Amino acid sequence: MYKIRLYGDPILRKKARKVDVFDDNLNEILEEMIETMYLGDGVGLAAPQVGLTLRMFVMDVGDGPKKVVNPSIIEMSEEKETAEEGCLSLPDIFEDVERSVWIEVEYQNERGEPVKERLEGYEARVFQHEYDHLNGILFIDRISPARRVLLKPKLLSLVRRSKQKVKR
Ligand code: CO
Repeated sequence: MYKIRLYGDPILRKKARKVDVFDDNLNEILEEMIETMYLGDGVGLAAPQVGLTLRMFVMDVGDGPKKVVNPSIIEMSEEKETAEEGCLSLPDIFEDVERSVWIEVEYQNERGEPVKERLEGYEARVFQHEYDHLNGILFIDRISPARRVLLKPKLLSLVRRSKQKVKR
């Protein structure tokens, strides 16, 4: 089982690199990410959150797990919607985030086959959140500066925890 990296771990701020080998090992990693996500009661988990700077994530909004490799968002609606988000790397923090209502995406599945989809609502929101992780962006980067100031004490205590847990 993977250990989830917490806010403060520098790996969460790195830009992840493209996956180019689709083998059994990749699928095993994705399966283990799914287990880790379920165990943490999450709806999405990106590879950098488990210490892997690879462009892939898993998600499950209630209709079974989805494995997303090398994603791109090719179109996003101008219409936005605000809803509360959380993140396994930022436990106990929930904030309103504005996201596009629908997106059109392309990615590869665990076998490297291309997938094209139009996602809406909650599924589109989770995809955008996980996609951000691959570029080192966290949902708290998308909240108002005033809200971020209020979060500061919580964030500082997470930074301390992240330093205790990961010893290099
Ligand atoms: Co997250």
